[in-house]
Amino acid sequence: MGKVMLTLVVLLLGLSAVEACWPSACTVPEALQNRTCCPYFNGSLCGFSSGRGECQFQNLTSESVTVDDRSAWSKYYYDYTCVCKPRYYGPDCGSCSPAYEEPDCTLPRRIERPDITELNAKQLKAFLADLNYCKWKLSKEYKILYAGDRLFPETFEFRECSYYDLLVYAQYYAQRPLRRGNGFTDYNFHYESSGFLTRNRAMLFYAEYLMQLCTKNQYFVFPYHDYTRSKNCSICTNQYMGESNQHGELHPYSVFSTWRTFCGVDSY
Ligand SMILES: *[C@@H]1O[C@H](CO)[C@@H](O)[C@H](O)[C@H]1NC(C)=O
Ligand SMILES: *[C@@H]1O[C@H](CO)[C@@H](O)[C@H](O)[C@H]1NC(C)=O
Ligand SMILES: *[C@@H]1O[C@H](CO)[C@@H](O)[C@H](O)[C@H]1NC(C)=O
Ligand SMILES: *[C@@H]1O[C@H](CO)[C@@H](O)[C@H](O)[C@H]1NC(C)=O
Repeated sequence: MGKVMLTLVVLLLGLSAVEACWPSACTVPEALQNRTCCPYFNGSLCGFSSGRGECQFQNLTSESVTVDDRSAWSKYYYDYTCVCKPRYYGPDCGSCSPAYEEPDCTLPRRIERPDITELNAKQLKAFLADLNYCKWKLSKEYKILYAGDRLFPETFEFRECSYYDLLVYAQYYAQRPLRRGNGFTDYNFHYESSGFLTRNRAMLFYAEYLMQLCTKNQYFVFPYHDYTRSKNCSICTNQYMGESNQHGELHPYSVFSTWRTFCGVDSY
């Protein structure tokens, strides 16, 4: 049977996935039974009274969702979801889309993505502190599906997890093999999908959105690293992402050495 055995694989900045975390408001039994994921924002479903979005039936052909629970997300789990107007984002349309500023999403948001090696000491310290904080800070907004028989929503078990682990979970959830009929294929929706580059980009925005929720700073951005500039991994030092020994273990002086690693299993 379709037993879900999901554990987290913690990867340092492994940012390639689809949005696949369940809004906390939609993990309650009524929402699952009603197949409705339309949380309230500012007093109305999907922020309807604030002109943000609408709770709509997802009119998708049954063919696109019988293949795998992840295709045509999130039709396998919900029939009604929020459809946000262009400037709004999030399961309840309560956030701004990445191009607009909080609080009312009318002004364009301009952000500059710096090279990590060009951050000054204070900026670098703040970035690493934010990452580490969000590795531990539990998300209020989302949960993960941890266990249950996927044919029976009443058996689903959801868990809280940290903002950073949500990203890792999304990556893990996307890379499990594609289901077809009663079996599994050798390929997945992750590295082997045709939309990989576009999706990878979308995932970066999702990652920043989660970090912005976590840090309550709408200007949080991930710096980039241009690995073509140095022969060695110039950021594999304790000042940046951590130095590792020949066994691949991080140096204890690196803050990332305190991050726990869970090994994932592919039995779904
Ligand atoms: C589920 O459906 C019932 C009956 O239509 C309704 O009263 C209830 O508010 C719905 N709950 C959710 C979470 O949508
Ligand atoms: C929330 O609703 C009130 C009353 O409808 C409105 O004045 C306010 O602008 C709304 N806030 C947001 C953030 O949309
Ligand atoms: C769904 O879409 C089909 C055409 O693609 C249309 O015939 C049908 O009426 C739609 N159903 C709903 C409930 O909107
Ligand atoms: C790369 O690492 C090796 C061994 O640690 C060192 O000898 C070499 O100078 C490094 N090269 C660069 C470009 O940093």
